Amino acid sequence: MEQTNTLARARRYEEQHRTPAEKRPVFHAVPPVGWCNDPNGWSCFGGQYHLFYQYHPYGTNWGPMHWGHAVTKDFLHWQDRPCALAPDSPFDQNGCFSGGAMEWKGKQLILYTGVMPEGEGEIQQQCLALGDGETYEKASAPVLTCDEQPAGASRKDFRDPFLFAQDGMVYMLVGGRGFNGHGRLLLYRNPRPEDTAARWEFVQTLAENDGSLGSMWECPGLFTLEGRTVLIISPQFVHQAADDRYHCGNDTAALIGRWDGPGTPFVLQADQPLDSGLDFYAPQTLETPDGRRVLIGWMQNWDHCYPPQDAPWYGQMSLPRELFWQGKVLCQRPVRELDAARRLRVEHCGVEVENGPVTLDGVQGRVLDCDLQVDVRDARRFGVRIACGKACWAEVRFDLEDGLLRLDRRHAGGFRDALELRETPLLAPIGHTLRLRMVLDRYSAEFFLQDGQQVASMTLYNAPADAGGIQFFARGRASMDLRLYDLAL
Ligand code: FRU
Repeated sequence: MEQTNTLARARRYEEQHRTPAEKRPVFHAVPPVGWCNDPNGWSCFGGQYHLFYQYHPYGTNWGPMHWGHAVTKDFLHWQDRPCALAPDSPFDQNGCFSGGAMEWKGKQLILYTGVMPEGEGEIQQQCLALGDGETYEKASAPVLTCDEQPAGASRKDFRDPFLFAQDGMVYMLVGGRGFNGHGRLLLYRNPRPEDTAARWEFVQTLAENDGSLGSMWECPGLFTLEGRTVLIISPQFVHQAADDRYHCGNDTAALIGRWDGPGTPFVLQADQPLDSGLDFYAPQTLETPDGRRVLIGWMQNWDHCYPPQDAPWYGQMSLPRELFWQGKVLCQRPVRELDAARRLRVEHCGVEVENGPVTLDGVQGRVLDCDLQVDVRDARRFGVRIACGKACWAEVRFDLEDGLLRLDRRHAGGFRDALELRETPLLAPIGHTLRLRMVLDRYSAEFFLQDGQQVASMTLYNAPADAGGIQFFARGRASMDLRLYDLAL
């Protein structure tokens, strides 16, 4: 397979500018250099998990979209692979946008959105590439054009195909947009997707935005977990969410319901946000060979992308998270591979936290995993400050009086415009005991509350070496058991 100049240039560039391990997170995926956004093609192939991502190697800003590529065997150690796709064809010259991948007939089948100019604007169409896990050959024209949509469709918002196989067919779920501006999810199928002469058949509109959650729905996903079907969406431009579990701007949601398969309606029963933090968008899921459904997201948000000066890379992936149910709540926990890497560093039991701040021997750092169990029956508030340095910190706080989870990065430093506080309702009942797992990895923190019933993520760009303090505080009196683990990676 011959490489085009655009692809060869990207591969050469990343080879020459590869960020050394000590300047990356320890176990979260980042691009070797430059910018990344959405995870793409998150799937198993050839005994490894493949992560592709939206990628602009030449700067820490969004630019002409390539597909970057990394692989992992354990969700924690990532190996860069050469850039997989470059915007080098007439039909994707304005970008190779998000999409999916899967194993099909011994090859890796990729479908992505090709963006090309048309008149004064652009159109988006679905394009095919086939490969061996490292090199990909594109089909010579889009396989699903923007005109192959139900009536009343936008030709410029038709993107982010998600793939799955069923009964010998490949299905593709694509985000589209009606003339009313609302997002909708369109399902297509093809028994022979590798054959560019075989057209994609439209099956159904699987879900449609009634206007209550943003406008366009980006990056759809679909899976069934223990009998319940989940549609993943990333709604854009939420300006007045129907309820305060969602925030303005770009958010993510799981639409949970019943679906009896292609051609039958999806019956929505509930919805929930996937992350209550500051940075999370465009997640995808895969199923592991041992049957786990694992979610990964872009740990960043369009609404506050401020690359620190001189950063070699910008944009991180979240920790891969296993999905499971507790009652009707879709929960997330770090992949069990992280549990296996935990080595107890220190344990403190029955620590009284009254006002504060309280610091504890051995409790500091920016790469760790920590379980807290806090008796809050006599507390009105409990909180943790992490990444504390000289006059800087970031905070997660549970306000039990007003029932809010607060994530505060206004004093974290690291970048000029880091003025963010997010307040979200506490979604899981706390009762007398708050359970919190904190996973820190140099430039990020992920908080799993009440055994994963609610998750909140944030990136941190103050210097890890200068800001590793951890402090606890309360209003009223809290009693805390803590176990802090180093990670053997
Ligand atoms: C989501 C998104 C996708 C698009 C890609 C472009 O973050 O806007 O809809 O394919 O990013 O980089």
